[in-house]
Amino acid sequence: MPLVAAGELVSRAAAARTAVAAFNVITLEHVEAVVAGAEAANAPVILQVSENAVKFRHGRLLPLARAAVATAEQAAVPVALHLDHVQSGELLRQAADAGFGSVMYDAAHLPYAENLAATRAAADWAHAQGLWIEAELGEVGGKAGQPALDAHAAGARTDPAEARSFVADAGVDALAVAVGSTHAMTTRTAALDHDLLKRLTAALDVPLVLHGSSGVPDAELRAAVTGGIAKVNVGTALNIAMTDAIRRFLTEHPEAVDSRKYLLVAREAMAEAVTRIIGVLDAR
Ligand code: G3H
Ligand code: ZN
Repeated sequence: MPLVAAGELVSRAAAARTAVAAFNVITLEHVEAVVAGAEAANAPVILQVSENAVKFRHGRLLPLARAAVATAEQAAVPVALHLDHVQSGELLRQAADAGFGSVMYDAAHLPYAENLAATRAAADWAHAQGLWIEAELGEVGGKAGQPALDAHAAGARTDPAEARSFVADAGVDALAVAVGSTHAMTTRTAALDHDLLKRLTAALDVPLVLHGSSGVPDAELRAAVTGGIAKVNVGTALNIAMTDAIRRFLTEHPEAVDSRKYLLVAREAMAEAVTRIIGVLDAR
């Protein structure tokens, strides 16, 4: 199946009052697992590559992007490729040529006026390339390399009135909102502010995105989708599945040396996690 644009999947999900899952990929095994997991769920999916994943790959976007495009093109379900948490202008400008149909530009760590100016410039550039663009207002904490943020501190939440002006002035197509989730949680204990989410949904006419979804329990995720979240970003849950599977395999097979043996169980564990999470979100 040809690659689809994330914007198309998110709009379709928003219209159906459901959400599309977007999984962060780091290795080829992540890519294959996300596609296999979505195929098992018979659901569309977004593969996303973060700026941090690109840094891990020595700053090179193309090797993983090309693997993702090739895997997506052979998928039995619609797959979109999205560049996630981009802060670097240089990386942003590689998006379209590398096969990405959308980007998330992240200037949420900056004061409001600077976030707005940087995001406006990124949105103008993205739209000129035909890319769909997501931005963030109010900061979702727990990002690698950034100081710890209390997800429940007042300033860390997205203010509905401010979000309305931000979206109108920046001209973005979707907004990542801070409603109580935190990146990189290894326990599923986040409690979301559903009242705030309701007010954000009422104030905004673009789809809302939940980041840091690995730490959000199933019931909270479902309530978030009912409350207006149309794109659910998941990263850490796949790394937990991968690492647990490899750790278990190597503990049981201390003599193993063939990396395919443990990458196979890791890929299967990630695919199962993908199918499970899509099932939680699926309101079709
Ligand atoms: O943009 C990526 C996501 O927000 C991933 O967050 O690793 O906590 O699931 P997570
Ligand atoms: Zn995120």
